[in-house]
Amino acid sequence: MIKDKREVARRGEAAAIPTAWEYAPAPESREIVHFEDRYGLCIGGQFLEPLSNERYTTIDPAREEPLAEIAQAGKADVDRAVKAAREAYAERWSQLRPSERAKYLFRIARILQERSREFAVVESLNGGKPIRESRDVDLPLAAAHFFYYAGWADKLEYAFPNRTPRPIGVAGQIIPWNFPLLMLAWKIAPALAAGNTVVLKPAETTPLSALLFCDVVRQAELPPGVVNIVTGDGRTGAELVSHPDVDKIAFTGSTEVGKAIQRTLAGSGKRLTLELGGKAANIIFDDAPLDQAVEGIINGIYFNQGHVCCAGSRLFVEESIYETVISKLKRRMKTLRVGDPLDKNTDVGAINSKQQLDKIGSLVQSGIDEGAEIYQPPCKLPERGYWFVPTVFTNVAQSYRIAQEEIFGPVLSVLTFRTPDEAIEKANNTPYGLSAGVWTEKGSRILAMAQKLRAGVVWANTYNRFDPASPFGGYKESGFGREGGRHGLEPYVALDGE
Ligand code: NAI
Ligand code: MG
Repeated sequence: MIKDKREVARRGEAAAIPTAWEYAPAPESREIVHFEDRYGLCIGGQFLEPLSNERYTTIDPAREEPLAEIAQAGKADVDRAVKAAREAYAERWSQLRPSERAKYLFRIARILQERSREFAVVESLNGGKPIRESRDVDLPLAAAHFFYYAGWADKLEYAFPNRTPRPIGVAGQIIPWNFPLLMLAWKIAPALAAGNTVVLKPAETTPLSALLFCDVVRQAELPPGVVNIVTGDGRTGAELVSHPDVDKIAFTGSTEVGKAIQRTLAGSGKRLTLELGGKAANIIFDDAPLDQAVEGIINGIYFNQGHVCCAGSRLFVEESIYETVISKLKRRMKTLRVGDPLDKNTDVGAINSKQQLDKIGSLVQSGIDEGAEIYQPPCKLPERGYWFVPTVFTNVAQSYRIAQEEIFGPVLSVLTFRTPDEAIEKANNTPYGLSAGVWTEKGSRILAMAQKLRAGVVWANTYNRFDPASPFGGYKESGFGREGGRHGLEPYVALDGE
């Protein structure tokens, strides 16, 4: 449509040629989703009222509107859930033929596919992430994870040849809010495939997809007590960690809480895997395909509002191409659409919580105060809800907080290098070691860099790519243990001599 009437007048009878292309709103319908007013705890195949009698409200962070009342599980509730999981383990799940376990996992995968639109809307409503991402990334990957581990359930002897793999018992699993359903899949699928039962605690801000998953479990006719979901904040998580009848804890979240859990479990004999924070280096060499690299930078840091443990939050650009890369990057940032997570055109959705928004804001302020140069594209933000404009910092020194600390928001810090050795040294100069990206035309350089980067995952000429067959996990303060692939079964099996 031509907006300027004078333009129309000047052209007279000539056919109208658009002078501006505005996106029309393309909202996904939320009719497909039905929430209860209040939810209990999913224990032993039923929803039970919390013995704690405590509740809180979960909201839509894009509208600051309440969605449902959620139970805050206390010590006695966690105990009930662990008892249900123990009973299901001893009497049902560990006794089943492995091919029967596989059957249930395949069912869950199929049901997730069938109900993917509904789950995608729930993820976007409760978490703030763009529907394009929950629809095209979270849901397909969650289903793929169940398919993948369903395939291993009756082949564990091949995964661990001559080592007689056995299940370990009840797993306590604590997950964060950035990929609620996907993290649930990463935790539950390998645990069940190996014959364990689980008590899972979703993050306090994003419990709804886990509660809806209880309905998938019901539909799949999983024996009661194999999957138990207890909601609540860190206090509920701490009860699960210290419960004496849990055999293994799997945690994804902040390094701070990861360290506290490790201290609690020291000497207890319980198994532990930790997937913690990151401050990944995304390294661009001068021979890289620059337009693709810019797409990789954008995807690396603005995907899921930067609430990604493996986000490419430190960009290293070879000095000779610095100006070109930065100008291309800024131009591309101007096209990012920030706004309603349920709009199919949205690239960057809402920040997950007020708490996270405040954390991003204060780290960004520290960048400005320490002397970095900030750029934010012009951007109109909705009036209600939690939002942060995609941000890039240049003139960043390695010592600045924005180059050291995990921001977990849409904020990129740019640094430069002159030689591959300097790139390696700077990239590894972090307490974390979860992921990295390398952009270059030379295969030999990719291999050499991947050898030297202290990171669990190194992407070459791509970023934020996931596959259930590929192990994921960190070095140093990013944690230990791997999720995904055959490696992801290891924490859930006891082998000969264990
Ligand atoms: P958090 O580590 O406090 O929360 C993650 C999960 O742990 C939630 O389910 C929470 O209820 C639970 N939890 C909290 N305290 C616990 C305790 N003492 N014992 C057992 N479970 C506990 O992370 P939070 O506060 O939501 O975010 C803070 C920062 O952590 C973020 O800004 C980000 O930098 C980082 N983070 C990293 C994640 C990752 O994927 N690596 C995910 C979430 C946060
Ligand atoms: Mg916390």
